[in-house]
Amino acid sequence: MLIRRQPALRASEITPPELFWQRRRFLQGAAVAGAAMVASPLPAARLVPDQQLVELRGRYSTDEEPTPYKKVTTYNNFYEYGTNKGDPAANSGNFKPRPWNVAVQGECNRPGSYDLEDFFAPHKLEERIYRLRCVEAWSMVIPWVGVPVADVLKRFEPNSNARYVAFQTVYRPEEMPGQKRKVLEWPYREGLRMDEAMNPLALFAVGLYGEVLPNQNGAPVRLVVPWKYGFKSIKSIVSIAFTREEPPTSWNISSPGEYGFYSNVNPAVDHPRWSQRRERRIGDFFKRDTLPFNGYAEHVAGLYADMDLQQNY
Ligand code: MTE
Repeated sequence: MLIRRQPALRASEITPPELFWQRRRFLQGAAVAGAAMVASPLPAARLVPDQQLVELRGRYSTDEEPTPYKKVTTYNNFYEYGTNKGDPAANSGNFKPRPWNVAVQGECNRPGSYDLEDFFAPHKLEERIYRLRCVEAWSMVIPWVGVPVADVLKRFEPNSNARYVAFQTVYRPEEMPGQKRKVLEWPYREGLRMDEAMNPLALFAVGLYGEVLPNQNGAPVRLVVPWKYGFKSIKSIVSIAFTREEPPTSWNISSPGEYGFYSNVNPAVDHPRWSQRRERRIGDFFKRDTLPFNGYAEHVAGLYADMDLQQNY
């Protein structure tokens, strides 16, 4: 562990992740103790009190109505648990999100294996209500809890050779039954260009709706890149590597003609098998127009000013 944990934070500050996990353990203990009396399932642990979330909602959050919790946690894409939308919620019960280590490798001065607390410490959590636009032309609005990717990555001191950052999901076929079938090349991989990763919109999420991230949504830590199609937002991350070359990515390996490295939400570039002009917000009857960069153009369009986005889909 190369990064020293900060001393206890002031009460006015947002609870650091290490306290969430302690609190979660505490809640689990309490639930077991109370099990004889209360026959309800274990409630997800609260990460941040509501009013602190509101204070930190900040300028990047949309004020659109969030998609109901039930939908966000039962209509998922997480092929490690199966390819149907209900599979992740149904098949992720045996997954153990703790203890958890993230390996940091490649072009940086502080590589190492970091326990989740050390990976995040001393960062404060924020709530970011983001639209998520799936490549399959549906979308949701999700209130994430997390830490900006830039704040975390800076502490590993990427060097001047670091042009990209590559991410990998954990490989545990015994806990993730979908990995026993080769629907994708496991482990799931994704990547960003360094300037994309350092954009303030990019988030490492550890929760949603103010609660600990459920397994099906990518526990204990996942990426959220709201201006890109949902598949860039890789779940259950165990490895991060700073690289000189563009890293291979699972969907690009599987179908290069359909899924590019960039995959910015772009209504002007159709998927080879369907249009990307419109989308159905989960819960809505009518479709709506898809916005360039999923509506985040003012924050990210500059990253691609010199690029042909028809070519670099
Ligand atoms: N990450 C991993 N490891 N495996 C996956 O199958 N699916 C992606 C992305 N991250 C996926 C993944 C896709 S296609 C989408 S749309 C989002 O996760 C869905 O996130 P959600 O289920 O939390 O809404």
